[in-house]
Amino acid sequence: MFAKVKSIGLFGMNAYEVGVECSFSRGMSRFDMVGLPDAAVSESRNRVYSAIKNNGFDFPEARMTVNLTPADIRKEGSVYDLPVFIALLLATGQLKADTESCAFIGELSLSGEVRKITGALPMVIKARELGIKQIYLPKENAGESSVVKDIEIYPVTNVIELYAHLIGKKKIEKVDPDTFSEYIEPIDTMLDFADVKGQYQVKRALEIAAAGGHNALMIGPPGSGKSMLAKRLPSILPDMTFQESLEVTKLYSIAGALPENISLIRSRPFRSPHHTISAAALSGGGRIPRPGELSLSHHGVLFLDELPEFPRVSMEAMRQPVEDGVITVSRVSGSLTYPCEVMLVCAMNPCPCGFYGHPTKECTCSKGAPQKYLAKVSGPLLDRLDIHIEVPQVDFQKLSAEEKGESSAEIKKRVNKARAVQTKRFGDTGITCNAKMTPAMTRSICTLGEASKKMLERCFETMGLSARAYDKILRIARTIADLDESETIELQHVTEAVQYRSLDRKFWNN
Ligand SMILES: Nc1ncnc2c1ncn2[C@@H]1O[C@H](COP(=O)(O)OP(=O)(O)OP(=O)(O)O)[C@@H](O)[C@H]1O
Ligand SMILES: [Mg+2]
Ligand SMILES: [Zn+2]
Repeated sequence: MFAKVKSIGLFGMNAYEVGVECSFSRGMSRFDMVGLPDAAVSESRNRVYSAIKNNGFDFPEARMTVNLTPADIRKEGSVYDLPVFIALLLATGQLKADTESCAFIGELSLSGEVRKITGALPMVIKARELGIKQIYLPKENAGESSVVKDIEIYPVTNVIELYAHLIGKKKIEKVDPDTFSEYIEPIDTMLDFADVKGQYQVKRALEIAAAGGHNALMIGPPGSGKSMLAKRLPSILPDMTFQESLEVTKLYSIAGALPENISLIRSRPFRSPHHTISAAALSGGGRIPRPGELSLSHHGVLFLDELPEFPRVSMEAMRQPVEDGVITVSRVSGSLTYPCEVMLVCAMNPCPCGFYGHPTKECTCSKGAPQKYLAKVSGPLLDRLDIHIEVPQVDFQKLSAEEKGESSAEIKKRVNKARAVQTKRFGDTGITCNAKMTPAMTRSICTLGEASKKMLERCFETMGLSARAYDKILRIARTIADLDESETIELQHVTEAVQYRSLDRKFWNN
């Protein structure tokens, strides 16, 4: 007797069809499972066996063999419990149902409860692509799956319920997308830029960074408000497109980090890992692979406060992914990649005591200490921080109590407008914002007039700007022009962009 049902596997971001075949023949009683790694096999076998026994089904005294195909892909996780269970009932004739157009995913408890899995969203998307009409999955994964249209999704609580449904005794209700909400962080409960007094130039620089997706570094003395400003960034980030939302939700689905009853993440992520975080937790990986902080910041902000405190290995681990927008995790079963198009924002003091370059307070560090402090930051990582923002100390208590800054909602409006221009500009090139333009694109899109060219040339001579800085200035100038609703990059846009390259010229180079 033989039965075959469909399931879906996941490797990194890629889902693929898995066939679950079950055959049994008279003979010595045994239960073999092939196509899974050893440890997972014995665990899965135990769970399926118990779920069968504990729910009044019969486990025949015969030779049972379960085979997961394709054999050459090493399967991970525990999502195959449910399809193995169903295939077993079909092969032994305890269940008679047409499951040709169905797929099953889910882990079982010993008592037959269907448990939440990670990565349901990309699996359901794949199932629909494969032309599968009905998918049965853990009830707790219903929310994230409900964004996928044109496939019937059945949330399952336990095996008895599923059995009753399949024999037509008691139907399970299909997932109704309307019962789930999209996750949008309400702007009025967020920290607001209006709380930050003064600091107009810093806020302007952050607005530009948010509008164009540029990586930024804030440098300033203790208490100048760097952390305060960074925490308010989410309130001015541009709205996500549906495609971006879907990608972010997929990653959170795979990481098992989606809140229940949420179908789609609509707010850009803002992650702020502590400097004690391990390089592995930043990059992702592990026995059952999970996206790390870099990927959980995809299409959002990765904020590294007190940048020089991060160990060298962590900074090195971030360099390439930040540049490429994807991270590759090596595994025994082959390497897998997760996307990580992030806007990297960092904050630091200018020197160990914090007051180097301060207009009134004296720096108590030894000679050369500020340069050494900056050198703690990996050079190539520093090179990827496009906008340098000097955050001066303001006596904010002296600024009148009534003086409220511009609200985040106002700033966000301009950011959204500027981002919409970029979305139109890049169309379906895969580029989402000015910061991600390739060098070739930068040269063709960011053309300058004669006056701007001359000015830049002069800057290169007097400030000693590196050639690498050139493209960055062009991209920042493009964003400033977008905020200005100007089709062309004008002299004032370039002039402002140059100001955000303070590390290229400042005292650190002395
Ligand atoms: N411009 C400002 N307007 C209102 N409050 C401010 C301003 N700047 C600083 N503050 C107040 O000072 C506190 C300290 O600022 P914050 O922790 O952001 O400084 P920091 O630059 O991150 O310092 P450190 O280098 O020590 O980490 C803030 O929580 C806030 O209460
Ligand atoms: Mg701080
Ligand atoms: Zn100092």
